[in-house]
Amino acid sequence: MDVNYQPDNLYPRQKVFNHSQRFIEGWYWVIPARMLKKGKIKSVTIVGRELIIYRSTDGQLICCDAYCPHMGANLSQGIVEDNSIRCFSHGWKFNPEGICIEIPCLSEPLPLKIKTWPIEEKYGVIWIWTGKIAQQPLPYVPELELQECDSILGASFVKNCHPNVVMINAIDVHQFNSVNPWLEEILFEKQELNHNAIKFDRTIQAGEGFWWTNLSNWFCKHNINYSICYWYGSIGIVTIGPEFLHLHIMFALRLLADKKTDIQPIFITKKRPGIFGYLFSKFILLLTKFLSISLIKGKKRILRQISFNFQTPTRADLSIIQFVQHVNKQKVLNWKTWQEPIPPPPPAGTNNRDVFTND
Ligand code: FES
Repeated sequence: MDVNYQPDNLYPRQKVFNHSQRFIEGWYWVIPARMLKKGKIKSVTIVGRELIIYRSTDGQLICCDAYCPHMGANLSQGIVEDNSIRCFSHGWKFNPEGICIEIPCLSEPLPLKIKTWPIEEKYGVIWIWTGKIAQQPLPYVPELELQECDSILGASFVKNCHPNVVMINAIDVHQFNSVNPWLEEILFEKQELNHNAIKFDRTIQAGEGFWWTNLSNWFCKHNINYSICYWYGSIGIVTIGPEFLHLHIMFALRLLADKKTDIQPIFITKKRPGIFGYLFSKFILLLTKFLSISLIKGKKRILRQISFNFQTPTRADLSIIQFVQHVNKQKVLNWKTWQEPIPPPPPAGTNNRDVFTND
């Protein structure tokens, strides 16, 4: 075992795990891409910050702060002109970099700039990076990293629970196997893909007794591979299936006010050539959607009522502890301002257990 699972070893200087006012700098889902047509603007609030996103007339995506630097009109009421936006109030115009390029009543624009943010489209969803320059690629399914993919979206929904806590359900060995007496022997293999991504793998022997191995009766009599890859502590990509057919579900989460979570399920498979390949991919995506419904259903009751307070970890909670440690070492930003918090000096004699409690 490469980690001491006692919580006293986990005191971070700036905890972010299960925190209502902080989050990790990273990519966060915004809206389904189909909801933003060329020449249209949307008002969105992502981890507390009010923004607008628009699609230029040639399809380029742009994201900037919501309020006009002149008098504070909300730019979502404005007009897209080519790849720029014009404020509806007094007609000031801003280019895709947020620079003011025209003020109707002045011969020269003023040296003003609205803050803009990196924005991309992938798996049918629009994503925003919550810092000035994106430091990591968009979240991807590890085994499909270099492949073209097909995807469909599930219906988004809200949970009364922090995104980090929603995420740990996928590696909660106690919960998976609470009826098996040999619980202590079941652990995931951990692999850190980069500073912001961590993966937990497990091969389940056919007939081991997990609830998911009922799938083995459905698919075949072979072992089932199960892995979950986390990005920024709030995106979880579940890969499940026998060796010859892996199903991939991405749960993209973002923190709402009061520790609630907005969840967008995305079902992903590799692109297959030809009409039969297309039809087979569609079938696989529907199968994946069906699987996700049962995954979510199994967690509904727990996530409705949990008040997370991890005071008594055991050896079977090792993967959860590794996840908490991984989350707490990433770059932290404050809710709404997206600024880094000022690090407090570690107080003498602090009770380190507060890393696991609700703030
Ligand atoms: S408030 Fe936007 S141009 Fe005046």
